[in-house]
Amino acid sequence: MKKREQWGSRLGLILAVAGNAVGLGNFLRFPVQAAQNGGGSFMIPYFIFFLLLGIPLMWIEWGIGRYGGKYNHGSTPGMFNLLWKNSAAKYLGALGLVISMSIMIYYTYIESWTLAFSFFSLNQTYFGLASHESMRGFLYSFQGKETSDFFTTLWPAYACMIITFCLNFWILYKGVSKGIERLAIIAMPLLFIFGSVLAIRVIFLGTPDSSIPENSVANGFSFIWNLNFDLIGEPKVWLAAAGQIFFTLSLGMGAIHVYASYLKPKDDIVSSGLSTATINEVAEVGLGGSIAIPAAAAFFGVTLTTQIASAGAFDLGFVSMPLIFEKIPLGFLFGTLWFLLLFLAGITSSVAMGQPFIAFLEDEFGYSRKKATLILAGIVLVAIQFVIFFFDKGFLDEMDYWAGTFGLVVFALVETILFMWVFGSKKAWDEMNEGGDFRIPQIFLFIMKYVTPVILLGIMLWWLVQDAIPILLLSNVESDKVPYIWGARALMIIITIIILFMIKRAWMKKAQANS
Ligand code: ALA
Repeated sequence: MKKREQWGSRLGLILAVAGNAVGLGNFLRFPVQAAQNGGGSFMIPYFIFFLLLGIPLMWIEWGIGRYGGKYNHGSTPGMFNLLWKNSAAKYLGALGLVISMSIMIYYTYIESWTLAFSFFSLNQTYFGLASHESMRGFLYSFQGKETSDFFTTLWPAYACMIITFCLNFWILYKGVSKGIERLAIIAMPLLFIFGSVLAIRVIFLGTPDSSIPENSVANGFSFIWNLNFDLIGEPKVWLAAAGQIFFTLSLGMGAIHVYASYLKPKDDIVSSGLSTATINEVAEVGLGGSIAIPAAAAFFGVTLTTQIASAGAFDLGFVSMPLIFEKIPLGFLFGTLWFLLLFLAGITSSVAMGQPFIAFLEDEFGYSRKKATLILAGIVLVAIQFVIFFFDKGFLDEMDYWAGTFGLVVFALVETILFMWVFGSKKAWDEMNEGGDFRIPQIFLFIMKYVTPVILLGIMLWWLVQDAIPILLLSNVESDKVPYIWGARALMIIITIIILFMIKRAWMKKAQANS
């Protein structure tokens, strides 16, 4: 049996898992979600779900992951097979591979835009574009969504994707300690420095135009932080908050499990799990909440900022922020910092989405890291073409919906039931507390066993009643996009079938070897 890799140091591990969690979700998705869902109204369910879903699931995933690692399983098929002695268990674990791989496919592309925009900021390429319309035209033509004079081909976007793709796979090829951990040790401190510099700069924006006193940084902060119960009765705000907690903490993806599988059996997971969740929240609420919304509120006002956020997931980060950088002294430098911050946040997360499948090939098929990395690279390279060339048809959004939103809840529900109910809450509790710097407060046993699964079931039921039919039948989709959306679904179904088939083969081979 090949010896499994291990983390080099505890600090490295914590930074790697924090890097896994801190991503584009913290700096782009969070401000957009907060702005779309009423600012202060969003923060109430957000913090409730952090306590009732985020922290418990973080411990559950670290627990399952370290347990799997003890038996040389770094991915969820093998882990679920340990938790539930049933031949179906390993197939349920396919979720942890399909979701992480699908997210990696589209996330790498978004990450590559941040690299491109770092360059455009440094080079002042977009300087001179004065309105939201023209800046949107710049972004959309870069993405191939619109034709304009700015970019007449997709080649700049494609070239940046190739660079980002190569960097990701080079790090994955280097391995857990020499690749992922080293990246985190360099990238995470830099990310916090860049984020702090930007947040401080934003605070000093004050009221940029004294003739419009309501457009101020202070109003941006009070929009997020003033308790506001206006939208609190709307289920959509609660669903958005739960979705954000999952996405930002990288829960329900199979990505936390794989990192935890490289721990030693008695390494602490109680305080490490809590620290990584806390670091993520500092980055999200502390930094992510102090940059895009307050800056946009200072220049455009809170009302327009919420409209910008509703217009599209990327408009706040790639349209409003560049407009602001144009207006401030040394803006090109702050712009470069902003997009590099996004790039660092992105790459430490995208490698985490790649590692589950690599671990699966290494642990279950005995492949070398090189071979495993090359196979994943091949799949991602083929699939990403659809994301790039059909971006304007909603291909990326569709993948994000199923893998990055819906899938996370399904997977979290499955793993919570398997760990807390099938494996057994007593065994699960002991497993999570084993080697801990302190014991998990007892109340969390109740939360993990009852509260977390009930909330997850509630979210699923709500989805079934409210969203399932129109979304499945594409009732609200423009007709020219329909074939492409089905294409995105077909791609994910094909990935799922291939993975299910591979799981079957891996277990057959093992059974033959043992007989
Ligand atoms: N947790 C990662 C993010 O926030 C996926 O982007």
